Amino acid sequence: MSNTAFLSLEKLTLAYGDTVAVKDLDLSIRQGELVAFLGPSGCGKTTTMRSIAGLLRPQSGRISLDGADITRVAANKRSVGLVFQSYALFPHLTVFENVAFGLRLKGLSGTELESRVDAGLKSVGLTSFAARKPAELSGGQQQRVALARSMVMEPKVLLLDEPLSNLDARLRLEMRAELQRVQKETGVTMIFVTHDQGEALSLADRIVVMLNGAIEQIGTPEDIYNRPASAFVADFVGFENIFAIENGRLRAGNGPIELAMPLPHDAAGLAWRPRMVTLGSGPFQGTVRGAAFSGSTREYLLDTPLGALKAEVDAAAPAHSAGTTLAFDLPVEKAAKLERFN
Ligand SMILES: Nc1ncnc2c1ncn2[C@@H]1O[C@H](COP(=O)(O)OP(=O)(O)OP(=O)(O)O)[C@@H](O)[C@H]1O
Ligand SMILES: [Mg+2]
Repeated sequence: MSNTAFLSLEKLTLAYGDTVAVKDLDLSIRQGELVAFLGPSGCGKTTTMRSIAGLLRPQSGRISLDGADITRVAANKRSVGLVFQSYALFPHLTVFENVAFGLRLKGLSGTELESRVDAGLKSVGLTSFAARKPAELSGGQQQRVALARSMVMEPKVLLLDEPLSNLDARLRLEMRAELQRVQKETGVTMIFVTHDQGEALSLADRIVVMLNGAIEQIGTPEDIYNRPASAFVADFVGFENIFAIENGRLRAGNGPIELAMPLPHDAAGLAWRPRMVTLGSGPFQGTVRGAAFSGSTREYLLDTPLGALKAEVDAAAPAHSAGTTLAFDLPVEKAAKLERFN
């Protein structure tokens, strides 16, 4: 993977009529990188993809790919592949012909066409399915045909918009692994959109978290999971106890709360995952409102001076029933320090 930008979006603003969907977005992606767009519905993920693919002309800003400005280049001249959630295979064509379709349009035929299609089918493990029709395939196999169909065009960038969302849980896992393998083998630069943070964390080299048409945070899966930059990202990746810092104290429902340790000066807030909360000792008291046993852990919902709090402990720890008063602590050294509180 080279370190220079291969695909860059500069101050990209995208609108549908008067509705601005993406504002001043800057993003630069390296060749061979696997990037995930993660964010709530309506935050602009598909819109950004469409502009990269050339299906939506930016209101302002610039898109460049492999050293060329492609902002105004037609979609079919961009060398950008797109796989959507509804992968829309041609039902009357065989798997082979589905994969061959784009290559035929490009004027390929004969042995060259055949070897490109064969290689494409091989890369997704569908060699022996070449003669079947889409209706004779499982959902995951159809998805792989759609992937092969895009891959054989040898795009510089492959965009996948929620490619796995139609699949059941087991197939999703299989296809995740498949995607990752194909991407590493071919080295194609890939951006995929997902709602699923687990999918983004397990697949991506870098994650772009979007909110309201802008980037909230860009980072490695470890950055996003362990060092969320804002309250929004912290909440999105499962920190359930999130507090703003005001004048050196935590802002809680019933007024500011002093923690035992001094709070970091450079943070706008602190966040704890349920398992980062110390339960059974500490300067605060909470009353158990609810308890949930998950097999390996117990999760407690506590009513506390800081408001409702979630704590998680090993299932081997003694169980506490509703109404019990427990001591707890929020260890500052374990907390994620938020740069922004939103
Ligand atoms: N064709 C359209 N015309 C007008 N507004 C649109 C159009 N497509 C999308 N939008 C709006 O643009 C914003 C971004 O939509 P987009 O489809 O990019 O969201 P998304 O992040 O892909 O969401 P989802 O996760 O639901 O797919 C939304 O507010 C949406 O309502
Ligand atoms: Mg979308």
